[in-house]
Amino acid sequence: MKRGAKIIGIFLIDFICVECFYLPGLAPVNFCKKEEEQISCKSEVKLYVNRLNTEESVMPYEYNHFDFCLADDEKSPVENLGQVVLGERIRPSPYKIEFMKNMSCVEVCKKTYDGNRKEDNLLLATLRKGISLNYKHHWIVDNMPVTSCFDTKDNRVYCNTGFQMGCYTRNRRTNCVPEIEQQDGFYIFNHVDLIITYHSGAKEEWGTQFGSNGGRIISVKVVPRSIKHNGQCNTQNTEPLRFPTNPLQKDEKFEISYTYSVTFIQNNMVKWSSRWDYILESMPYTNIQWFSILNSLVIVLFLSGMVAMILLRTLYKDIARYNQIDNGEDAQEEFGWKLVHGDVFRPPRKGMLLSVLLGSGTQVFCMTLVTLAFACLGFLSPANRGALMTCAMVLYVLLGSPAGYISARIYKSFGGEKWKSNVLLTSMLAPGIVFGLFFVMNLVLWAKGSSAAIPFSTLVGLLALWLLVSVPLTFLGAFVGFRKRAIEHPVRTNQIPRLIPEQSIYTQPIPGIIMGGVLPFGCIFIQLFFILNSIWSSQMYYMFGFLFLVFIILVITCAETTVLLCYFHLCAEDYHWWWRSYLTSGFTSAYLFLYCCHYFYTKLQIEDAASAFLYFGYTIIMVFLFNLLTGTIGFFACFWFIRKIYSVVKVD
Ligand SMILES: *[C@@H]1O[C@H](CO)[C@@H](O)[C@H](O)[C@H]1NC(C)=O
Repeated sequence: MKRGAKIIGIFLIDFICVECFYLPGLAPVNFCKKEEEQISCKSEVKLYVNRLNTEESVMPYEYNHFDFCLADDEKSPVENLGQVVLGERIRPSPYKIEFMKNMSCVEVCKKTYDGNRKEDNLLLATLRKGISLNYKHHWIVDNMPVTSCFDTKDNRVYCNTGFQMGCYTRNRRTNCVPEIEQQDGFYIFNHVDLIITYHSGAKEEWGTQFGSNGGRIISVKVVPRSIKHNGQCNTQNTEPLRFPTNPLQKDEKFEISYTYSVTFIQNNMVKWSSRWDYILESMPYTNIQWFSILNSLVIVLFLSGMVAMILLRTLYKDIARYNQIDNGEDAQEEFGWKLVHGDVFRPPRKGMLLSVLLGSGTQVFCMTLVTLAFACLGFLSPANRGALMTCAMVLYVLLGSPAGYISARIYKSFGGEKWKSNVLLTSMLAPGIVFGLFFVMNLVLWAKGSSAAIPFSTLVGLLALWLLVSVPLTFLGAFVGFRKRAIEHPVRTNQIPRLIPEQSIYTQPIPGIIMGGVLPFGCIFIQLFFILNSIWSSQMYYMFGFLFLVFIILVITCAETTVLLCYFHLCAEDYHWWWRSYLTSGFTSAYLFLYCCHYFYTKLQIEDAASAFLYFGYTIIMVFLFNLLTGTIGFFACFWFIRKIYSVVKVD
């Protein structure tokens, strides 16, 4: 098993790491020396700054929230919807870089703070807060994140995207790497050493004319430093720049001079197409984790295969026995699930709500499936910023029709009459809840001045997408759905409902529902850790091939557990299965919520209330959508199963 897993793992790594990052939209950019500049290459290496974030708070801040050096009013690159919603704010920077031109210590700007000025102390306080919460810069060069690397104890180089804006030593505890000084205090990283590695191509290779005077950028690494420049820029100086711990006194002055150096290093060993590998490889999922995940997947598959087999065999026996009795001479008493044939298709209470949830669930399901398929094919790689989110949102909007259709058909089969409320609810309820929560959280972000706050225009745009695209599509789907004849059931429903016998603890609804979510959750929870890391700790997620596999397994296990429990309940003559099948697999989302709480307390070091509020706000949105997804899977599996088994037994 181990070897098989290894081979599949290596195959997946190859597939994911090589294929994804070589997309037509992300063509390589050729750079060359200034003297050689021509149409096919440029000498200016643009450095962009993104928002700053931290693991200790959910609140990201835009670059200009802090008092850093600003670019002279250049245009920001265009961002897609996904980026805006995710809070990315890419801006031009004042750092000027020319290809293949080494620079040693250039000043970008100088900031002077005066104790007599109140606003200066405010600016310093913001910076100090940023340092104490360990906010990190995220810079971008040539569509690659700038990384900061350090050696680990086992002699590996570990590269993080982004770098600290400063560090501090407090009560012998420090987050300065390497340790700057034993003395307590704050230090701001005012100098960066940028090390740009490039691949210099031969003429034949790229068909360009610049030869060894040009190349493509492979990686950009940064070593942030805190240097007290005494009058002039000097990188030899080892004395760090101590940041004032308290507000400046009257007539006290403090000066920060921001500087940088650039070194270009040629490296023809690394191909441009595999330049992302070093970042992805130092993500905390090493090969060992890959194999453990694979192994657990194999076990889950095996288990669920067994469940399916047992179920099939018992069913086969049941059906053979039922049909034998019918042919048989003495009319034996009926037993088991066949007894409730006159009641299984009795419409549930609150059929309206159920059909609306199922419609929305279908929408979420289709969206997830298509997004993951795209991601798997490499269209949504990390190099393609925000593409995943954009894709998911656009798909959700476009998939209004299936939602309306399914909701209408299910509602009609329940004998529902109020089709207008059905359509309205389908198009409004789930998106309304998500949008409402999103709006409230946005108010908090906005009040805090965070960069994750969505601009008003984007909010209006989202609202327009929902009301002008999604809602009409839902109406269209519902129209088609209502026009069709109601779904016919294989057995007729009796006039008078049957009495349900007293249930044992195992077949009571609530224990069944609680048990139902365990297996599906078990097969996703290893992946969950990585997904949550990628959301909250801004680690890149790229194992989409895996995620797709996990999604399929989730679908299978949800369907199987629901069908299995449904079968037990029917055998115990409890025929209220409609809602229960939805809730059984939907309960996986409750475990998801518990896991998110666990993650919050163990992994994140969030202390402020606003951050916690946001965390749980996003978590609730996620849990809600997940509930729709899993519940719908369980329901349709069970629906299909029950139609199947009652259509094969003979009922007189
Ligand atoms: C830049 O500096 C690096 C390291 O010192 C050196 O290898 C390289 O040749 C220099 N490049 C140029 C264009 O001077």
